[in-house]
Amino acid sequence: MQYAHITGWGMSAPESVMTNDDLSKLVETNDQWIRERTGIQQRHIAGPDQFPSTLAVEAAVKALTIANLRPTDLDLIICSTSSPEYIFPATACLIQDQLGATKAGAFDLSAACSGFIYAVNMGAQAIRSGSIKNALIIGTETLSRFVDWKDRSTCILFGDGAGAFVLQASDEPGGVLSAVMHSDGSGGNLLTLEGGGSHHPATETTVHDGKHYIKMDGNEVFRFATRVMASATQEVLDCAGLKMDDIRWIVPHQANIRIIQAAARGLKLPMDRFIVNLQNYGNTSTASIPIAMVEAIEKGQIQPGDKLVMVGFGAGLTWGALAAQWTGPLPSKGHVHPEQYRTFARLRSLVRRALRFIEGLLYRREL
Ligand code: ACO
Repeated sequence: MQYAHITGWGMSAPESVMTNDDLSKLVETNDQWIRERTGIQQRHIAGPDQFPSTLAVEAAVKALTIANLRPTDLDLIICSTSSPEYIFPATACLIQDQLGATKAGAFDLSAACSGFIYAVNMGAQAIRSGSIKNALIIGTETLSRFVDWKDRSTCILFGDGAGAFVLQASDEPGGVLSAVMHSDGSGGNLLTLEGGGSHHPATETTVHDGKHYIKMDGNEVFRFATRVMASATQEVLDCAGLKMDDIRWIVPHQANIRIIQAAARGLKLPMDRFIVNLQNYGNTSTASIPIAMVEAIEKGQIQPGDKLVMVGFGAGLTWGALAAQWTGPLPSKGHVHPEQYRTFARLRSLVRRALRFIEGLLYRREL
């Protein structure tokens, strides 16, 4: 029996920070309202040269370094994102190329803010089935590119960032213990980004109508979120045969402190059992859970052996939870330096493009 252990972790956030006071210069809002209604104090905003794949690769290199794994050891890359660079190619393939993960299959997963939980579950299932050994799971977003900076009900909420886990197969019990995934497409209209898909391809009209911006019914999403956070947590514990007392930490999606407080009340748990860092990042969508995890590990809050639940909700509507036992890196020999592989990866990518170009010329001549 193979278990899927979380053996590496890393995060990345753009250096540029936007405070609530900065926002109050763009829309009619103020620091007090945003803090009281959401808990958010600042968010990180990607610069013009930062994309979901660039943030993801930074997080991934850190995760691979901790796991002591080469990019070429990866069998699978799953990138959860709702702000992909393109409709296709998948952001996961851009990451695969930038890392030089030559053996890995790569695909994107779209489940909004629940996506990281879905993606870790998919990676863990592939490991448990015995079909792969090493997976890289990434949540990455630059939702700031899709925010309407004139809409005060949404622009205050979102921030950019990425988080990554390495999952590895081991005979030792632990790692991902159970997961639940849910959806309710009847609520799809509550949180949307309609423009640019095949229903509303980009036209002057879609731009004029603001269809390329995030639209949200905040109150409805709030009600849905407070309902499902506690129930999904309880459900995933039941699946793993665990009780609430077995769990040291709950790592919730970082959308709004009031949603997390409602989940705490629903589960009859004190707030100090919840990892919260939304004050510094805002809602980074699918990246919020891994960013919160990485910070908590780095601060020494999450310790090897701790059992924890990650729980999230998002557009779709989607929601889900995952129970895991934190183990840390597997024992390994020697030290690999995944960062160095990035230079080889760039070179390899250039050579492959050049070869493809030459092949194309030769093929045309043969015709
Ligand atoms: N600053 C000042 N006032 C504001 C602001 C603002 N930024 N935004 C709204 N208001 C006003 C409203 O206009 C309203 O005024 P009115 O009473 O005169 O009409 C008042 O504040 C109350 O507005 P509500 O919308 O009722 O405020 P609420 O307390 O519900 O907070 C919020 C709004 C923060 C959006 C909340 O509903 C929320 O967090 N919802 C969940 C959002 C969420 O989690 N989304 C992410 C999903 S994950 C994903 O998939 C991306």
